Amino acid sequence: MGFPVLMGILTSAIILFMCWIIRDNIKIKDAREKYVFITGCDSGFGNLLAQRLHQKGFTVIAACLTEKGSQELQACTSPALKTVILNLTNTKSIDNAVEFVAEETGSKGLYGLVNNAGRATPIGPTDWLDMEDFHRVLDVNLIGLIEVTLKFLPLLKKAKGRVVNVASVMGRLAFGGGGYSLSKWGVESFSDSLRRDMQHFGVKVSIIEPGFFKTGVTNLEIIEKDLHRLWNRLSPEVKSSYGEKYFNNYLKVQRLSMNTFCDADLSKVTNCMEHALTAQYPRTRYGAGWDAKFFWLPLSYAPAAVADIMLKLLLPQPLGIKKSLAKNQIDV
Ligand SMILES: NC(=O)c1ccc[n+]([C@@H]2O[C@H](COP(=O)([O-])OP(=O)(O)OC[C@H]3O[C@@H](n4cnc5c(N)ncnc54)[C@H](OP(=O)(O)O)[C@@H]3O)[C@@H](O)[C@H]2O)c1
Ligand SMILES: *[C@@H]1O[C@H](CO)[C@@H](O)[C@H](O)[C@H]1NC(C)=O
Repeated sequence: MGFPVLMGILTSAIILFMCWIIRDNIKIKDAREKYVFITGCDSGFGNLLAQRLHQKGFTVIAACLTEKGSQELQACTSPALKTVILNLTNTKSIDNAVEFVAEETGSKGLYGLVNNAGRATPIGPTDWLDMEDFHRVLDVNLIGLIEVTLKFLPLLKKAKGRVVNVASVMGRLAFGGGGYSLSKWGVESFSDSLRRDMQHFGVKVSIIEPGFFKTGVTNLEIIEKDLHRLWNRLSPEVKSSYGEKYFNNYLKVQRLSMNTFCDADLSKVTNCMEHALTAQYPRTRYGAGWDAKFFWLPLSYAPAAVADIMLKLLLPQPLGIKKSLAKNQIDV
């Protein structure tokens, strides 16, 4: 290829990239007039986003799971920020929140719906779990999110609003058994179909894919307490297939990797949520955090064999397998 051709391609690429940057930075007008409803504002990303949007002048309606969370948020904001109690596994609670928002927003409709609430536990090796364990996560992270979204769609269409759904890198690369990865894959696919269906009405849908951050969802105390519950109720056969030492090794390796990966700067995630709400042209997907951008999301595009090897390195191997194989050989 000749030098002029190469220069031509390079220049076009740079110009296209600059146009994209300019387009990406165009903001909507009159953010101040707009209503935003956020779920899961007791702690973590939801709590920080509620405070930030409130400071920016949005009219924030923050949904909290507990009365305590709601009072704490109200104590550090002004009465202009409204809170409402919302438990996503309870249809009546969802209906109450929708009614409250409908009254608050009146003829304006709802500009922003941020589906942020979620839980991670029970999470652990798949054969340690039962159906109830799967339901406990799926009912909140996926079924609850769908119910909230369906019930807010009329208000969102009225305002030509936006839906911002919090998925995860674990919705692109499945590991850690239980409902969590499943729920986040579900959020990805629900959001994709919602975006395609709602484009005709001017409602835009964005997906946030955070890596690992220090919040309630990654709290090791909570995760380990639940893992003890799972391990202690295992049948002797399943336990011995893993080996007695497995549990402690699992905890050790999990602590090491969580402490390595978890980022304390939650604004990396809330900045993406803010962009999705305030940019004239919100992006479809936001990878949030260095680990997401440079490790988890690229790994999700790698061949499964490569991802399997990488993920195998992150957790210990069951030792009981070797023992039971050796025993079988002697039996024969
Ligand atoms: N932290 C991470 O590394 C990470 C990575 C990727 C994605 N995410 C996602 O980010 C979102 C926010 O989580 P976070 O990391 O900020 O953790 P968090 O601090 O635990 O926030 C989750 C929020 O959801 C609320 N919640 C839990 N169960 C609920 C229910 N049944 N109904 C209504 N609300 C409920 C929690 O209330 P309580 O505080 O009262 O329990 C809390 O306010 C979640 O969807 C999570 O899956 C987190
Ligand atoms: C949420 O609702 C479920 C089902 O009604 C209930 O079991 C759970 O205790 C509730 N959680 C809170 C914090 O109120």
